[in-house]
Amino acid sequence: MNWLVILCWSRRNPFVSIFLLLYYLSSTVHASSSPLSNSSIVPFSSPLYHSSDSLLREIKTLVGRHPDKFSIETMRGSNKGYLAEIVVVTYNHTKRQINKPKIRVLLSFGQHGRELITTEVALNLLHFIAGERRIPYYDSQSVENILDNLIIKVVPMENLNGRKLVEAGDSCDRRNGQGVDLNRNWSVDWGKKEKDYDPYEENPGSAPFSEPEAQIMRKLTSLFNPHIWVSVHSGMEALFMPYDHKNTIPAGLAGHVMKSVLEDLNRRHFQKKCLVGSGGGSVGYLAHGTTTDYMYDIAKVPMAFTFEIYGDASASQNDCFTMFNPIDKATFQTVIDDWCTAFITLFKEGTKMLGGAQLSVSDKTTFTWDHEDLHVEDNNSNNRDGLELAVQELRNYFRLFFLSTVLLMIMFCSRISKNKFNDLTLTLNGS
Ligand SMILES: *[C@@H]1O[C@H](CO)[C@@H](O)[C@H](O)[C@H]1NC(C)=O
Ligand SMILES: *[C@@H]1O[C@H](CO)[C@@H](O)[C@H](O)[C@H]1NC(C)=O
Ligand SMILES: *[C@@H]1O[C@H](CO)[C@@H](O)[C@H](O)[C@H]1NC(C)=O
Ligand SMILES: *[C@@H]1O[C@H](CO)[C@@H](O)[C@H](O)[C@H]1NC(C)=O
Ligand SMILES: [Zn+2]
Repeated sequence: MNWLVILCWSRRNPFVSIFLLLYYLSSTVHASSSPLSNSSIVPFSSPLYHSSDSLLREIKTLVGRHPDKFSIETMRGSNKGYLAEIVVVTYNHTKRQINKPKIRVLLSFGQHGRELITTEVALNLLHFIAGERRIPYYDSQSVENILDNLIIKVVPMENLNGRKLVEAGDSCDRRNGQGVDLNRNWSVDWGKKEKDYDPYEENPGSAPFSEPEAQIMRKLTSLFNPHIWVSVHSGMEALFMPYDHKNTIPAGLAGHVMKSVLEDLNRRHFQKKCLVGSGGGSVGYLAHGTTTDYMYDIAKVPMAFTFEIYGDASASQNDCFTMFNPIDKATFQTVIDDWCTAFITLFKEGTKMLGGAQLSVSDKTTFTWDHEDLHVEDNNSNNRDGLELAVQELRNYFRLFFLSTVLLMIMFCSRISKNKFNDLTLTLNGS
């Protein structure tokens, strides 16, 4: 997310746009009068954040402390001399095997270099999963029970090369080491450009999967075949689901299930302050070639999400560090605790939803949501969801019906009074 995007979105809403324009003007006036604002505000003056090196080092030692739970690997790729490597941490508690297939979860953080807070959430989530820290809201036994059903792969820093650029002082860079936006380099609807396309920020690369980072992630996805995918970003607070490249959510049960999981997270952990819905429909701009659309459409991941975990819209647009990352300790800690907790809830609810479906079948072949399947695990909550949906639809119909009735009445009445008036004048004239 960036200012351009918000402004573009506001084009469709004239009042918001006037407001934003005023705000924008006032902030630029403010900026030009202050000699300090420059995009090279170096983020690492803040003691809250790790450098990429120290973050990865800390993750490696954490994995080393729990060989029964974690393993770590580095995947490498290159394209025309440009090298990329991605560290992947796997949680697979080998001492706790259950007698049904485990749900596979793939989480990626730091796809955009400047979104440092996301990689801190990755590190802390690993601490929580390891049992080294207690998760607020859940007791440790229930966390263990939830985790027993899962194999989780965490990519703590998808875009290491881009992150290095940010650490070298370019705190506004979201692209990879050769200037490509990794969230536009995937194949679904690749390369299509909206009117508000920003060639600098959104450079999709020369072709789908031109970037080794995208190739590695695609390979990881096809090897692991996840049931749940989350790409974690910052810049705003939102829980997004497909699609990014069009203004709709997937039809039928698939879309409904994903949406209800997100609405539940929003209610439980974020006081409903997050935007919820399709990326394309909620942000107000369409994004083409995104990872999450690929995960849903091509890789057939049944639950594919993009979480936007923090944003400060009031920050100066030159100050990317503050726009994308909390700077005070209290906010930093709240973001980490809330989102780590939300992940545990996602694991819990996702397992519940997917557990009823035929995972053994889906293990190697494509997964399809089936109405029957979903009701096996927990009929009550699903029935309630269905009922809620039906009631909601009914309400909408009534609203529409009522509205059109009122409109018709108004038209009818005004017609009558006009006719009456005409009749009256006619009689008067006639007399
Ligand atoms: C910001 O800083 C960079 C180098 O640190 C400098 O080249 C650039 O001119 C500065 N920009 C502004 C607007 O001051
Ligand atoms: C998880 O561990 C089990 C038992 O050791 C093993 O059979 C399985 O292949 C592992 N899965 C992954 C994805 O690493
Ligand atoms: C990704 O970037 C590479 C390198 O620029 C390019 O060759 C490829 O076409 C891009 N693919 C997509 C889907 O953007
Ligand atoms: C779901 O409903 C069926 C009958 O409709 C019942 O046999 C089954 O026990 C229920 N399952 C749960 C988890 O309530
Ligand atoms: Zn991002």
